[in-house]
Amino acid sequence: MVKITFVEFDGRETLVDARPGLSLMKNAVAANVPGILAECGGNCACGTCRIYFDAEWSKLMPAPRESETEMLDYWNEEGDGVRLSCQVPVVDAMDGMVLRLPEEQS
Ligand code: FES
Repeated sequence: MVKITFVEFDGRETLVDARPGLSLMKNAVAANVPGILAECGGNCACGTCRIYFDAEWSKLMPAPRESETEMLDYWNEEGDGVRLSCQVPVVDAMDGMVLRLPEEQS
């Protein structure tokens, strides 16, 4: 398992034993992380699964598809430190990663 910490906007933390191959979102929902709402179920259509992370983790994330970039634009999110967690599969090298969650998802 891959240990990933999700940090709510208010600072509460949930340590998730994530399964590689599944998305960050599916792992978070399975672990009842409160700040991953995932209202569209992972179809890149709601933007309520956003995550923020430090630059050191960027290299582990696949390039976003156009639909994801458009959804992030809708939420006025830009830069390398934000993604939709439903579009990012967990890989072993993410062990120890810390993800922060936006206020709108609290
Ligand atoms: Fe809706 Fe990720 S779950 S965009």
